[in-house]
Amino acid sequence: MSHSKQFNYTLDQPLAPNFPSRMVASKQQTFTDPDLFRNQVSSIFDHDWVMVGRAGAMPNPGDYMTAFLGQRPIIVMRQPDGSIRTMANYCLHRYVKLLEGSGSTKSIVCPYHCWTYKLNGELVGVPEREGFRPEDIEGIALEPIATEEYLGYVFVSLRNDLQPVSERLQNLSLILKNFELDGYEDRHVVHEELWNANWKLIYHNFIESYHTTYTHTKSIGPANPTKLVEYGPIGDPNFTIHSNSYTHENQPDIYNPQLDDDERRRFYVTGVFPNGLVAVEPNFVWWMALEPKAVDKTNARWGISFSHHAMKTMPDAEKFVEEIVSVIEIATTEDKEMVERMQAGANFGSEKAGLLHAPLELYIKEFDDYVMRLSSS
Ligand code: FES
Ligand SMILES: [Fe+2]
Repeated sequence: MSHSKQFNYTLDQPLAPNFPSRMVASKQQTFTDPDLFRNQVSSIFDHDWVMVGRAGAMPNPGDYMTAFLGQRPIIVMRQPDGSIRTMANYCLHRYVKLLEGSGSTKSIVCPYHCWTYKLNGELVGVPEREGFRPEDIEGIALEPIATEEYLGYVFVSLRNDLQPVSERLQNLSLILKNFELDGYEDRHVVHEELWNANWKLIYHNFIESYHTTYTHTKSIGPANPTKLVEYGPIGDPNFTIHSNSYTHENQPDIYNPQLDDDERRRFYVTGVFPNGLVAVEPNFVWWMALEPKAVDKTNARWGISFSHHAMKTMPDAEKFVEEIVSVIEIATTEDKEMVERMQAGANFGSEKAGLLHAPLELYIKEFDDYVMRLSSS
């Protein structure tokens, strides 16, 4: 099946009249209740694949990033054999958090009593070791976390019994195949940016392009107007994808010869449940991996990666990178301001439910259904 055929919905075919009942937004309290926040984060982030960032941001053995799987600290580490391994970020002695931020190292050394671990997590050094029974410290290792690379993104999970990411996202792989996302160059990564909003509000914002014309007035709104939105498959349990397509005059120059006419026009916006957001166009990708911190606080790790075709053949690639980074920084700031205002408004605590546009906000409903499904299982 041609992937273009999966994009049947545009604003010329409004869906609302076909719906038996109106679509409503989640109640305000679902963004402000701290108990609900804790329950949802553990029932979702402890039981599903979670996106943490780009593999390309750690190119060499010993390159690492720290992140959170839900509320749990983890280390994602490039291994000597080129694979990526994820481990619990706490010392086996008395639980000190081992690494902070991101960087490169030859071994993992606990700052408290200097227990030392290899890049794969194996314990190899214990000062004053006579004080421990050999059988207690020999052959032990940091807790491993299931890890999978998909399209250049790193996914992790506390569970070992889940269907692989590549299988559950097969339909998404077909749609994005020609972009070769795993080869994109990671030129801009922001590991920590605190947004004062509930993680679900940030997710909702990214997967609807109703706001593009009205919020992104200083960045992407004029070139990718709301009225050109096209909608992808409906009802997939793991992801959503739509296109915030370019106007004819604003279509980018294309350097990837594999892209067809639809792919040249489209700015695909995809959400991988529960926390991965990826916006793909012919020359670059704008992605975000959300880390819930508190009911009204989220770390938005985000970045921009560039097509290797564009970087290789574009006349002034460095200038292009600079321009895109500055436009997307503005767009990110515009989004941040709006979701923080949604959080502020939701603090009113009303029982009244807001409304969702069909089709423009249909995917918010699909995400909310996913949240309910995992929270209640
Ligand atoms: S807590 Fe890490 S060495 Fe003691
Ligand atoms: Fe936006």
